[in-house]
Amino acid sequence: MPKPKDLIELSYLSEAVLDMSFLGLMRLLESARAFNQDHGITGILFYDNQQFGQIIEGERANIMKCWKRIQEDKRHHRVELLEIREITERSYPEWLLRFYGGESLVKDYPVLEKMVGGMDKHSLNLLNKMRAAQT
Ligand SMILES: Cc1cc2nc3c(=O)[nH]c(=O)nc-3n(C[C@H](O)[C@H](O)[C@H](O)COP(=O)(O)O)c2cc1C
Repeated sequence: MPKPKDLIELSYLSEAVLDMSFLGLMRLLESARAFNQDHGITGILFYDNQQFGQIIEGERANIMKCWKRIQEDKRHHRVELLEIREITERSYPEWLLRFYGGESLVKDYPVLEKMVGGMDKHSLNLLNKMRAAQT
């Protein structure tokens, strides 16, 4: 991927209006990934205990378009922006939207455990923020 000049990373937390089913999450990912692919966006999405956490990275204008879509989505609320920051390189260059379902989801759908990789430091940091927000 060529290095765009104005690369930013945006992270937020939100709460699902209803607990998402496996199918519901897959539908969401499908639509999100299609948009991300067309707009050079990569990132990661967490879902655990009805809480979402997401990091998206890409060119500023595209990230702002994506952020608008995310905020308008009625499947979640209490959308809380954590940070927008300039970056020089991507943390998830290989992922249109990597998905990590936390323990609660894996418990209900053990098959997911095979689909999600180990977590890197950056992701773990976000997950810890999600957990802190729940208490
Ligand atoms: C938790 C969550 C994460 C989302 N992540 C993305 C994303 O990374 N990229 C994107 O374009 N849209 C994202 N969306 C928005 C939806 O994918 C999309 O706007 C919605 O499904 C409408 O899609 P449609 O245009 O196919 O109807 C997200 C929505 C939610 C609730």
